[in-house]
Amino acid sequence: MAERLPSAIRTRVTDLLGIQYPVIQGGLQNLGRARLAAAVSEAGGLGLVTAGCFEDPEEFRSELRLARSLTAKPVGVNITIGIRRNMADHLAVVLEERPAAIFTAAASPEQFAPKLREAGIPWVHVVASVRHARKAESLGVDAVVVVGTDGGGHPGQDEVGTFSLIPRAVDSLKVPVIAAGGIADGRGLAAALSLGAEGVQMGTRFVVTKECELPAAVKELYLAASELDTIIVERSLRKNLRVLATEAAKHIAALEARGCGPEEIIPLLSGERHREAVARGDVQAGLHSCGQGVGLITEEISAGEVVRQIVAQAYAQLTRVGARFGD
Ligand SMILES: Cc1cc2nc3c(=O)[nH]c(=O)nc-3n(C[C@H](O)[C@H](O)[C@H](O)COP(=O)(O)O)c2cc1C
Repeated sequence: MAERLPSAIRTRVTDLLGIQYPVIQGGLQNLGRARLAAAVSEAGGLGLVTAGCFEDPEEFRSELRLARSLTAKPVGVNITIGIRRNMADHLAVVLEERPAAIFTAAASPEQFAPKLREAGIPWVHVVASVRHARKAESLGVDAVVVVGTDGGGHPGQDEVGTFSLIPRAVDSLKVPVIAAGGIADGRGLAAALSLGAEGVQMGTRFVVTKECELPAAVKELYLAASELDTIIVERSLRKNLRVLATEAAKHIAALEARGCGPEEIIPLLSGERHREAVARGDVQAGLHSCGQGVGLITEEISAGEVVRQIVAQAYAQLTRVGARFGD
């Protein structure tokens, strides 16, 4: 029987962002483009166009405009500060284009805080620890995304799981918390809301969708993976990156475990190297960011379907759980 899709889930996050469901497609390096973001937003969640996909700020502007032409609903942006570059030029574009929300991530956004606050656009910062969440709150963010070590991409150095981290963040902050890391279905959304989060951000689940522009061979790798098939690389650089356990990833982790220095590790991490490997179909030679929730993904569906399924499943799950309580 198809699960019932509620018309809305209302939290401080949905009120802040002007969206129907508190389901956010997080920043996705190389993949967070217009079609995907617009599809998530059109289904009632919030899609983010990822600034880091675009070297040229003007290309980023065009992609953001494209996303906004594909849906009348709110579309946001993700700006990852300081991983590849400072991103001041991309931020200038964002402040001119005024998307529905700005999600900053990675380094401290302190240098940009006055401009972001003055712009009056909802501002969310992505963190992986309670101390960074508190710092972001003190800088004036409207909400935080808190990512547990289960998550794909850079889930921080502390390696605390989502289940332990989210309630600690909720108890420590006044601003709303959006949970991330290992959430890939409606049970994850139900759990996050139960832990006190007011929304979820997902990365890995949205990678395996029809609108995500990733070669089929790489999507197959995600579909075949279980919760055991991810690995953390870049620990030695204090930049933990959770990826699929490809041959390349295992090689890097082994070198790090042997104590090899940055001069040997950094060349193996280049984005160019990764893109070339994917282009020639050698998926094992690539680094593919991936969360531990990957084992829950069994099919490629549209991004809109992901949003609808997750909301309907969370509602069914919470209804079932509620019915277990006696008087
Ligand atoms: C392929 C991939 C690329 C990512 N790229 C970025 C990025 O460019 N900027 C960012 O802030 N987060 C990035 N992330 C992290 C996600 O936005 C999100 O916080 C994370 O994936 C949540 O955990 P999950 O993968 O378990 O859903 C990436 C994640 C994945 C899987």
